[in-house]
Amino acid sequence: MTPGSRPRVVLTAKLPEAVEQHAASLFDVVLNPTDTPFTAAQLIASAQSADALVPTVTDKITADVLGAAGRRIRIVANFGVGYNNIDLAAARTNGVVITNTPDVLTDETADTAIALLLMAARRLGEGERLVRAGRWTGWRPTQLLGTKVTGKTLGIIGLGRIGRAVAKRAHDGFGMRVIYFDPPVPIGEAKAHGAEPCGSIEDVLRESDFVSLHAPATPETRHLINARTLALMPRHAILINTARGDVIDEAALVDALRDGTIAGAGLDVYEREPTVHLDLLTLENVVLLPHLGSASTETRVAMGERAIANLEAFFAGTAPRDRVA
Ligand code: 8YV
Repeated sequence: MTPGSRPRVVLTAKLPEAVEQHAASLFDVVLNPTDTPFTAAQLIASAQSADALVPTVTDKITADVLGAAGRRIRIVANFGVGYNNIDLAAARTNGVVITNTPDVLTDETADTAIALLLMAARRLGEGERLVRAGRWTGWRPTQLLGTKVTGKTLGIIGLGRIGRAVAKRAHDGFGMRVIYFDPPVPIGEAKAHGAEPCGSIEDVLRESDFVSLHAPATPETRHLINARTLALMPRHAILINTARGDVIDEAALVDALRDGTIAGAGLDVYEREPTVHLDLLTLENVVLLPHLGSASTETRVAMGERAIANLEAFFAGTAPRDRVA
């Protein structure tokens, strides 16, 4: 950056118009009007030609990007709260600052988890498919019977911002007993959200009618839900995932849904997005959404504004609010 020039910022995906316009009023912005995800080579070229990148979950910000020869990049302002798409160790090695967008997507993602829970419990996807296929022949007392939600037990794995918002909705809105596993959360704090601690993930899985995952994707949480842990769940249990696909061993989930180890699942995220395990597509007892947990106009604009605020702080020489590395 030469003195007096504006920082060059690459937005790797099409963002809401208001966000793109605001960014363009502050920075020398490179847009992606086609919305086609960047290739690895395009990400490396961007790191070489721009001061900042605003990537999304689909962009793998690897050591090759962060340490690209002749790189100009100084900050990666991720558009999203999860940052498992970014190699933090490589960022630290290369002195590149990383920020994310927490808080502004908490409500939307919690709403999506509850929506998936209701859809899976009450077989709403199956019902919609029946109507759309023109196969609904009229009301029947025993048609598409699901399971009651009110008063049941919800187990939450990971009681961070989104886990707490789900706990509050389930406890206050559906009179559910909420239990959780997340050792760092102080007990008094969790109680305010109507959640009781459990000693282990295994206890949560054994005791819950519904389990909702809110743990970040890390080497420790990879395949936390696998054949062994699925077998601990009651056969009537339903598993919800709005966190990251890697937390579930998808092949093991397919087996569990097929052989009745658990009753159902609701998924917004997958191990190899946008590829979805082919067998999941054939199962009626799983609800499948295309990673739209935070997809409201208000929230996507707020995420963009949060990324812009992080960039503004960084280029003004102050600490970005949401620095994660
Ligand atoms: C976003 C998400 O849609 O913020 C996250 O971690 O998973 C989603 O809300 C996505 O990350 C956008 O990059």
